[in-house]
Amino acid sequence: MPIKNYPLSIAPMMDRTHRPFRFFMRLITKKTLLYTEMIPADAICYGDRDRLISFHESEHPIVLQIGGSKLNLLKEAAKIVEDYGYDEINLNVGCPSDRVQEGKFGVCLMKEPDLVAELMDGMQQSVDIPVTIKHRIGVDDLDDYDSLAKFVKTIADTGCLRFSVHARKAILKGLSPKDNRTIPPLNYEFVYQLKKDFPELTIEINGGISTLKEAQEHLKFVDSVMLGRAAWDNPFLFAEADSLIFDVDSINSSREQIIEEYCDYIEDQLIHSRCPFSLLLQPLFNIYTGQKGAAKWRRFLSENGFKNKTNTNVVKDAIQMMQDYLNTISD
Ligand SMILES: Cc1cc2nc3c(=O)[nH]c(=O)nc-3n(C[C@H](O)[C@H](O)[C@H](O)COP(=O)(O)O)c2cc1C
Repeated sequence: MPIKNYPLSIAPMMDRTHRPFRFFMRLITKKTLLYTEMIPADAICYGDRDRLISFHESEHPIVLQIGGSKLNLLKEAAKIVEDYGYDEINLNVGCPSDRVQEGKFGVCLMKEPDLVAELMDGMQQSVDIPVTIKHRIGVDDLDDYDSLAKFVKTIADTGCLRFSVHARKAILKGLSPKDNRTIPPLNYEFVYQLKKDFPELTIEINGGISTLKEAQEHLKFVDSVMLGRAAWDNPFLFAEADSLIFDVDSINSSREQIIEEYCDYIEDQLIHSRCPFSLLLQPLFNIYTGQKGAAKWRRFLSENGFKNKTNTNVVKDAIQMMQDYLNTISD
């Protein structure tokens, strides 16, 4: 299955890249590839499927990130994901959490390339959409370039064409998942080298990239750049992504217009979904990052958002508060 290249994506993040956040990001960038949070294969097969994996049409292009290491479950789940209309499926081989290790999936699978190849092969056999992989540059002592290249080669032999590579290794004993996103040093060179050694593969770099300018620099060496925390911490950063990275017109909306459009979505979801108001409100918190009044905005939403208000009046009040504040400081 040939693969489309998306030079920019927003990383899968548990409790962050949920449906409301993805919908919100799609108001800001039309082109960036979006990922779901990691969803375990057994939850897809046996859980509340609609709640877990349904998505809004506007979220395309969208990838479901799956977690698991049992072949039959992954195959069955992949078929379900394809039937829901996802553009791609991505296997998580990067997560270091204890819970994931107990389930024997996530980054500990980097120690078993043959098993990962079997899983990737099985999923690719059961669907027609691309199946891709997200992994790290290593795990524990398995942190030399040759082992990484061998891993990539083993998976590439199954027909997988895109590799999203978090440019730091994971240390399984003694570091929390959060520490594992900051303490092991970044090594972008390993990822660049992968592109040199496997020019036919789509290599995506991830880890510690926080501006579009940095993304443009990386694009001189790899096919694609994935941003995680920067998208959450500063979503409006992506307002220029379509023009700077995809070479098409960017959205031409102000923050306030985005917020208003998103409020329509909140109102709709409050009627038609079981999504709690607190979750629907989350994506708005960081929309003013880097702007005057950003802290006031966040404080207003957290003090007033979760109290007694369950509709978007609180957001409208927050916009008014920001306007009043900006008028005062410009006087
Ligand atoms: C809150 C949070 C949750 C995450 N959940 C996932 C996940 O579900 N699957 C995954 O592959 N990576 C997950 N990650 C890792 C990110 O996808 C990404 O690899 C990492 O944050 C490094 O990129 P960044 O420096 O741009 O944030 C998560 C990261 C954060 C901060």
